[in-house]
Amino acid sequence: MSRLPIVVLISGGGTNLQAIIDAANRDLPVEIKAVISNHADAYGLERAKQAGIPTAVLKHRDFPDRDSFDAALMKLIDSYRPGLVLLAGFMRILTPDFVRHYHGRMLNIHPSLLPDFQGLHTHQRAIEADVQKHGASIHFVTEELDGGPIILQASVPVLPDDEADNLAARVLEKEHIIYPLAVNWFAQGRLLLNDADQVVLDGKIIDSPVQLEQAPR
Ligand code: GAR
Repeated sequence: MSRLPIVVLISGGGTNLQAIIDAANRDLPVEIKAVISNHADAYGLERAKQAGIPTAVLKHRDFPDRDSFDAALMKLIDSYRPGLVLLAGFMRILTPDFVRHYHGRMLNIHPSLLPDFQGLHTHQRAIEADVQKHGASIHFVTEELDGGPIILQASVPVLPDDEADNLAARVLEKEHIIYPLAVNWFAQGRLLLNDADQVVLDGKIIDSPVQLEQAPR
């Protein structure tokens, strides 16, 4: 099968990037054309270099405003001609123009069971809200922050003694399973966003996010 060219955007450690790299080294039909970070010291850049993947750094602080940064980022991404853009811990709010440009071909991973806990500090907030279940979601990116159509989720229990760090680690393990899985669907042409912004998987509109336990492979 031909490999889908992708670009991955990161801001930090890049463990989700690593999960995609590892999957691509097995059977995920993607070619990571580049890893781009807005922080020069993001450890994920090191992971990319070790895997022989081109890297680029575009510092948002070098730009006067959000519009000019996003325009430069768009130009940089498009120079690699990706069929799919992955946000993998890319901690930036994106402009509507940027999001519209990648409509239907940009995915994000968010560390909560969306629509719960959009935004930051999701693990601490889940503990404080005393929920029994927490998790992670993969969604298409639309103009609503952390609000795009949800594709796939995985949950973990929240245990009585949990602190944000160990809950985050438990969720991260699931993230590393669901991101390659959703990317695989997209790369195989099984997943798309239709004109009404609905998620279509294997020819069927999904009314609610697929849960990992029930997910087709
Ligand atoms: C992951 O937990 C990801 O879900 C989260 O950042 C972390 C990045 O970890 N993303 C967001 O919070 C986006 N709103 P990683 O760099 O090790 O992949």
